Amino acid sequence: MSVRRLHSEQPASFAFSIENMEWAKHTIGKYPEGRQASAVIPLLMRAQEQEGWVTQPAIEYIADLLSMPYIRVLEVATFYTQFQLQPVGKKAHIQVCGTTPCQLRGAEDLIKVCKNKIAKQQFALSEDGNLSWEEVECAGACVNAPMVQIFKDTYEDLTPQILEDLIAKIERGDEIAPGTQQPGRIHSAPAGGAVTLSDPSLYDGSRVRYGLGAGMDQETASCDLGPSASDEASEKKPATKAKSVTKAKTTKPKSKAAPVVQEKVLEEIAPALLDGPSGGVADDLKQISGVGPVIEGKLNAMGVYHFAQVAAWTEENCAFVDSKLSFKGRIAREKWIEQAQILAGGGDTDFSKRVEAGDVASSKGKGD
Ligand code: FES
Repeated sequence: MSVRRLHSEQPASFAFSIENMEWAKHTIGKYPEGRQASAVIPLLMRAQEQEGWVTQPAIEYIADLLSMPYIRVLEVATFYTQFQLQPVGKKAHIQVCGTTPCQLRGAEDLIKVCKNKIAKQQFALSEDGNLSWEEVECAGACVNAPMVQIFKDTYEDLTPQILEDLIAKIERGDEIAPGTQQPGRIHSAPAGGAVTLSDPSLYDGSRVRYGLGAGMDQETASCDLGPSASDEASEKKPATKAKSVTKAKTTKPKSKAAPVVQEKVLEEIAPALLDGPSGGVADDLKQISGVGPVIEGKLNAMGVYHFAQVAAWTEENCAFVDSKLSFKGRIAREKWIEQAQILAGGGDTDFSKRVEAGDVASSKGKGD
């Protein structure tokens, strides 16, 4: 970044127009008493919009308005490159992004256009004083590189010819439309149309493995349910508590056909469920990390009381439990099955020892 100093030639004075003064008072009033200095950037920007650039008298005027030392306002004006410290073109000051993405997409050629059409040096005025240009750092429109900014708008996807045409229009006083200049491109959408995630089956529900989502019809529910080892197993050995499963709540359906399909599919993937704890005594499921009193209560209500039940869950069983407890992925993430296998075999885990010792506050109490 170049050294930023005030221009050698300055006007004699500065004052906000009546309209801008009203706006400035309103803006200063937005800040709490004693914090009016916070308005310095908007006020400097408004001064620039009024005069075209930030002059020394404007800096002093704003400092007086905000009861700030001149040097503090000068620091702000010279730090931020959006403040122009020298006169700029009356019709446009073109800021050409010269950062890597724009460079790679032809920013150098845009700068050549500026040199040919406006002035050899950045910040210099064109012969008629209507235009000026400068190279700036990334303006945040890299996806539409290369680009230029003119006042508050950006002009994107430029080629040298398009920039030449824009400059010609500005000189004639014609309106120019901001945004992408490439015909057919919509804002920052992929140029030439999408080339990824374009398979319609990604969005029609046909790839849903189990009918746990809403709005699924009979056809889509069955089309991707090819036979798997567990499907075959479930045919041979129906869930022990299919009745309880059927009663369980499902995701709110959008179509009338969905509940039937969902219940049917859920029945097929339900784990072994019990009407009550074997021998009348349930295991303390809170010894499984990730199972607190509330979840333990829900598991019990579902028909899960013992470590051995959890230890035997298949992937499909986990999908069923996930759908009932609304915390997708938690069983795998917290390794419930591995923990349950240890506990069902009479072993301990670090977590279960802490629970038994009463060191885990969230594992105390019952949630049901
Ligand atoms: S690099 Fe040019 S807009 Fe980001």
